[in-house]
Amino acid sequence: MTGTEGRMGGWLMIAGLGPGAETMITPEVSAALAQATDVVGYVPYVERLAPRPGLMRHGSDNREEIRRAEQALQLAADGHRVVVVSSGDPGVFAMASAVFEALEAGDPAWRSLDIRVLPGISAMLAASARAGAPLGHDFCCINLSDNLKPWALIEKRLCLAAEADFAMAFYNPRSASRPEGFARTLQVLRDACGPERLIIFARAVSTPQESIRVCTLAEAQPEMADMRTLVIVGSSQTRRIERDGESLVYTPRSVS
Ligand SMILES: C[S@@+](CC[C@H](N)C(=O)[O-])C[C@H]1O[C@@H](n2cnc3c(N)ncnc32)[C@H](O)[C@@H]1O
Repeated sequence: MTGTEGRMGGWLMIAGLGPGAETMITPEVSAALAQATDVVGYVPYVERLAPRPGLMRHGSDNREEIRRAEQALQLAADGHRVVVVSSGDPGVFAMASAVFEALEAGDPAWRSLDIRVLPGISAMLAASARAGAPLGHDFCCINLSDNLKPWALIEKRLCLAAEADFAMAFYNPRSASRPEGFARTLQVLRDACGPERLIIFARAVSTPQESIRVCTLAEAQPEMADMRTLVIVGSSQTRRIERDGESLVYTPRSVS
């Protein structure tokens, strides 16, 4: 990252749009979008931005990350002011890494571009805040999709995270094309953590469809998760405060 203007005034910002609500888009990201000539991203994320004169919206399929990154780098090299958008934070299972992969392998001239990453509120932070503070002590987060890594590696990480007694946040838990992975995840966790461990299903957080569901691993069903859900499994220390029909889930600050 140069922090200086690229050739011909072009620049590339890789920005996070947060989990859904406009109020969760940072002022820094809003300012970049207001100056942009081009927005590049997965179709539903690009469509979250209102059209305006002077702004070209380039939506693409979610399996085209590297091609999209190359397109954005080339637009910036041609003098455009480009924002690549991701949901949540762009550095969490999203476009920032894809842009850097394309930068490393691509045209050497791209390396002199002004490129910056603008953080956003990641789904696990928004979900955690809605549920209470389940990530208040040590935690890890794992992407449960085996599109970009083998399932054996996911299962190994699940077992080691359970053994280390981390709270865990799971992205991409269950899709129509791979329903069996999340059922297996629940089984692995029941075996490793026991049936009473708390689990949170936070769906479409900060949107009108939001739902937050808290139960135990014994009660959890695979169908409770889909691709709009962020799942959090507590550590052995995570507990629930019941009040007025809803519960607050938190993990204490210390372990004795
Ligand atoms: C490709 S990942 C992108 C993560 C994103 N970069 C972030 O930091 O939140 C997509 C996954 O994020 C989670 N996710 C994104 N937005 C969400 C929301 N509003 N509520 C719950 N989960 C969400 C879901 O697990 C979804 O399958």
